[in-house]
Amino acid sequence: MSPTTPPVNRPLWPRSLSVLLGRGDERAGLGHRTVLRTLSGHHLRVAPWQGQPDVALVGPGRASRNLQPMEIVSCVEALVHRGVRQAVTPALSPHEAEPFFRAGFRLHENLHLLARPIDGEPPAVSHRLRRGRPWDRRRVLALDNAAFEQFWQFDSFSLKEARRATPTNRFMVCPGPDGVVGYAVTGRAGGRGYLQRLAVHPEAQGQGIGAALVNDCLWWLHNRGVSLALVNTQERNARALGLYERLGFVLQREGLLVLRWDTPA
Ligand SMILES: CC(C)(COP(=O)(O)OP(=O)(O)OC[C@H]1O[C@@H](n2cnc3c(N)ncnc32)[C@H](O)[C@@H]1OP(=O)(O)O)[C@@H](O)C(=O)NCCC(=O)NCCS
Repeated sequence: MSPTTPPVNRPLWPRSLSVLLGRGDERAGLGHRTVLRTLSGHHLRVAPWQGQPDVALVGPGRASRNLQPMEIVSCVEALVHRGVRQAVTPALSPHEAEPFFRAGFRLHENLHLLARPIDGEPPAVSHRLRRGRPWDRRRVLALDNAAFEQFWQFDSFSLKEARRATPTNRFMVCPGPDGVVGYAVTGRAGGRGYLQRLAVHPEAQGQGIGAALVNDCLWWLHNRGVSLALVNTQERNARALGLYERLGFVLQREGLLVLRWDTPA
């Protein structure tokens, strides 16, 4: 099963997708994010990807248990009508990924999932860090883009999304001589903490800044009574994996998957 409608070159955003689908309804999203509710009451989250008008992020929303492949196909077909040629998912558990595979998505990348109990004394933070401010955004995105390969780079929309993925978040930066050389976004939801993003400028790596940012995340979660911290990273990201394991994170047996769908050639 895969979406087959030929692409039409029209801008995707900010038209209402529920109108395009002709069914279900839409709760107006924050910014350009859209939550689609299908006729069966399931939620799909749709957003632009890296500011590219022809690439969309499509993932399960809050109410998405038993999401059917046909619901995903309909959504992608509507996107294709708006000129989308590629859809990518956020990191999904194998269970969440299943209907996407059946809808014609394929594996883009496997991610490791790591967990660390928050117990004992909070770790010491070795570098001078400070809270990120709105005016840091440009420099933070520049360092993020220098640190990550193209597929994983954040734009200002994805940075906002990472910060509002959880009810509370901490956005910390490491100042450098010409601005900001590292940053981290940590989220908290109930008793769980999530290291959502971590990056250090390539020229500042290997000086303990990454470790300081992770330790700050653990310190913050510890002070808020969180019992478990989670993080994911690409399977081939040996540097990040080494850092997390050194700081007490343990690799989980089941990882996460990022899937993609491309317009058939
Ligand atoms: C992963 C990442 C955040 C690590 O940041 P970092 O600042 O280089 O991390 P640290 O300096 O704390 O630790 C990295 C290494 O430097 C070493 N190091 C730490 N302090 C050091 C110092 N003062 N002098 C020399 N080396 C040092 C550490 O032993 C560590 O070695 P290891 O990789 O063999 O374990 C960084 O490489 C990065 O931004 N990568 C690209 C983006 C990314 O992958 N983000 C994480 C995705 S989940």
